[in-house]
Amino acid sequence: MLIHVKTDFDKVIPLEGHVGRALHTSGLPRKELWLTNKIDGLPSGDYSSVRARVEAMLAEVQVDHFDLLLINYPLPAGTALDGNPEALARSENWAHFERHLLEAWTNMSRLRQDGLAIHVGVSNFYTQHLEALQDVIIRSNKINKCKRNSTPAHTSDPEPHGNDLAPIYAAENFIDLAHPEYELVEYCFRHSIRCLAYRSVYFIGVYEIIGLLEPLEGVVSAVGVANVHQLVLAWLLSRGVSPITSSSNKDHLRSNYEALSASRQLRTCNIDSSASEILGEALNTLALAFRGMGDLHGIPVCFGIS
Ligand SMILES: NC(=O)c1ccc[n+]([C@@H]2O[C@H](COP(=O)([O-])OP(=O)(O)OC[C@H]3O[C@@H](n4cnc5c(N)ncnc54)[C@H](OP(=O)(O)O)[C@@H]3O)[C@@H](O)[C@H]2O)c1
Repeated sequence: MLIHVKTDFDKVIPLEGHVGRALHTSGLPRKELWLTNKIDGLPSGDYSSVRARVEAMLAEVQVDHFDLLLINYPLPAGTALDGNPEALARSENWAHFERHLLEAWTNMSRLRQDGLAIHVGVSNFYTQHLEALQDVIIRSNKINKCKRNSTPAHTSDPEPHGNDLAPIYAAENFIDLAHPEYELVEYCFRHSIRCLAYRSVYFIGVYEIIGLLEPLEGVVSAVGVANVHQLVLAWLLSRGVSPITSSSNKDHLRSNYEALSASRQLRTCNIDSSASEILGEALNTLALAFRGMGDLHGIPVCFGIS
């Protein structure tokens, strides 16, 4: 059995001590655990200080490596994420991102090379961020190859750093029914980046407030899953997206886990057209409720409705 344990933020929420104690009292062998952690902001700057930050995170959890280390968001470390969203979208933030991307990913690649993380990835990187990062990786690795083969590279290419940059193993983003992120998921598939979704079931309580739970429950019974939470998780899994959910309730955990088999069923089953209509209607209402925050067209296709 592989148990996934996620801890959060190296500095913002100091969870690692608790996670470390829980892991060690459980007695589970390290190889049966998958540990993901996130480094706060773009880890640019001096490699030794980035490495020291990650070593401190590992020491808290009392392990010698993470299975996956993600850059938590494409902004400078310490950015307040709970303020005005418009402040986060300023052009100087993009300029900072572009200026520090090569250095930050070089540091991530060195952490992987030095064995502190088996895989490296990103979180809250949208398509334009992923495109920029892929471009940096391809160009830098091309220069390295040219250097190895002694072939001259274009003068406009970035400075090579000696070793090849690591591939992007995974991208973790906020994806739920109101924010299905079709373009982002498609981009990840095309570039063999695993797509992880957070907060996927968190706002289901809001659907109830805006009167959407009832139509969604119609879909729940039409497709034969146990509840709306399972529906959302199975919908993501059937799209090839891995949801990361949290719960403090054993029954919820069990039900969420069962979404895995429900997703296999969704991939193969033919849902009758009335379920498709109910779902389409419910999702369009959701999209309106969250005004412009997600394009919900095409959901039935993701359920494999024929
Ligand atoms: N990369 C990022 O920037 C970022 C941001 C936020 C979160 N995350 C990651 O994503 C993980 C999940 O995020 P999250 O906890 O915010 O959102 P979530 O898993 O979508 O929502 C958790 C909430 O849903 C409830 N819930 C879960 N399953 C349920 C079920 N079957 N029935 C009823 N209620 C259910 C939980 O309550 P109960 O405890 O009562 O079940 C809890 O209140 C986090 O642990 C974190 O690692 C990442």
